[in-house]
Amino acid sequence: MQKITHEIILVVDFGSQYSHLIARRIREQNIYSKIVSYKITPEEIKKLNPKGIIFSGGPSSVYASNAPQCDEQILFMDIPILGICYGFQLGSQILGAEIKSSENREYGNTKCTIKDHTSLFDDTLGDSIDVWMSHGDQAIGLPEDFQSLAYTENCPYAAARHKEKSFYGVQFHPEVTHTTSGNQIIRNFLFNICGCAGDWIMSSYIKSAVEKIQKQVGNERVVCGLSGGVDSAVAAALIYNAIGSKLSCIFVDNGLLRINEFESVIEAFNNNFKVDLHPVNAKERFLEKLSGVTDPEQKRKIIGHEFIDVFKDEANKLADIKYLAQGTLYPDIIESVSAHGGPTATIKSHHNVGALPAELGFELVEPLKELFKDEVRKMGSELGLPDEIIWRHPFPGPGLAIRIIGEITQDRLEILRCADEIMIQEIQSAGFYGKIAQAFAVFLPVSTVGVMGDERSYENVIALRAVETTDFMTADWVKLPYEVLANISSRIINEVRGVNRVVYDISSKPPSTIEWE
Ligand code: XMP
Repeated sequence: MQKITHEIILVVDFGSQYSHLIARRIREQNIYSKIVSYKITPEEIKKLNPKGIIFSGGPSSVYASNAPQCDEQILFMDIPILGICYGFQLGSQILGAEIKSSENREYGNTKCTIKDHTSLFDDTLGDSIDVWMSHGDQAIGLPEDFQSLAYTENCPYAAARHKEKSFYGVQFHPEVTHTTSGNQIIRNFLFNICGCAGDWIMSSYIKSAVEKIQKQVGNERVVCGLSGGVDSAVAAALIYNAIGSKLSCIFVDNGLLRINEFESVIEAFNNNFKVDLHPVNAKERFLEKLSGVTDPEQKRKIIGHEFIDVFKDEANKLADIKYLAQGTLYPDIIESVSAHGGPTATIKSHHNVGALPAELGFELVEPLKELFKDEVRKMGSELGLPDEIIWRHPFPGPGLAIRIIGEITQDRLEILRCADEIMIQEIQSAGFYGKIAQAFAVFLPVSTVGVMGDERSYENVIALRAVETTDFMTADWVKLPYEVLANISSRIINEVRGVNRVVYDISSKPPSTIEWE
């Protein structure tokens, strides 16, 4: 296990849907956090030397036979622990409490009365706060060495602490925004109880990440595939800072990129870094393979395989490459530690398009794998990447191929690129781009009737999609003002030949997905 020099808080994951959120809340306080499995051993914890530990919630009942249990010794290591919901129940059970299914399950916003303002709750919090509850069980019989810190109508121990050990618990979820003052409660734990200093800042992280890369790769050469997206761009910029000309970047134009995307990324890189950049025009290769293909999963597979082949061809032209850099992020790797086994069911095979297989024979450099997306953006900014790259909405690996329903043709790509560009321009000029997680146009090959001049037309439909989300697992459609939608629609119909109807997608995820294919 790597040596950690900055302060760290461990989030022990018992299968909570909120573990990422807890980790993020901690990092927002400039404290490094790491999500670990509930199977972590006291020895492993000792090596990581955390200032504190948060036990996450989880879907199980502590008394269920398959409930995730941690090593009980963790409670006796003299490290402050905050248990949230299941984590509270489990920790207090280990310390002698009785946990029962409550007669009145609590779900949603609940009033919570604070009894003690000296630890988790401070004087700024007043006597009552709204908290987000989501539990069927609760600690009912806490032994005498526990003190109740807050209660709700149905829950006498909405928050409690052990009188001697540094164990604190909350039955509610301070990490979700519905809990007013949730951040303050987390801050109190981190700063007052754990004694953190909050000095984990991006510039020092960059410095240590650069050193780590130098140490890992030594004098060897690294190749990095750029996609136009923020992750690969930041990974490349960081590695460039560490090893300069020993980094080579390959950027493949698969013919499925947005308007001017290929050119603008090349320009941005050439202007900002003297990186050894190899642009590859592989449009024909991809479009030929995709000809006549309509099934989305088939499209993804073809694009994925073709990308690997093109990348391999290009990388083989570069001499002596030992390492491959990937822009893997923290959320990509933490699914595997969740309490209930592997990743959730695959709805689309997507997230791996663009990932390169081990058979290529390179060793991996993944310098962003401890970071969340917003941290990657912050890093990119500090490394001097232009806002245009840093704040661009995410774009799927298979690109426009999965935004053209049905067969992909040059004409359709052209129509979609123009429509997409108009949509983005209008959203930008109305000041909405930065507030939206992802906005794009989709080509629907349905001919509908229109009137253009005196003539009837039978032309295609463009669907507009704009969503807000923080994690891309769930998303809501954006309530764009009618004027913005009207401008987009009339511009597309007037300016893009082959489109006579524009519709707005008002479905949320779930049950829909963000992309149409
Ligand atoms: P869905 O459509 O599953 O999308 O709600 C969630 C997020 O993933 C992106 N996405 C992809 N990204 N390859 C990718 O690299 C893909 O095949 C793919 N399909 C969807 C989507 O744009 C959204 O950000």
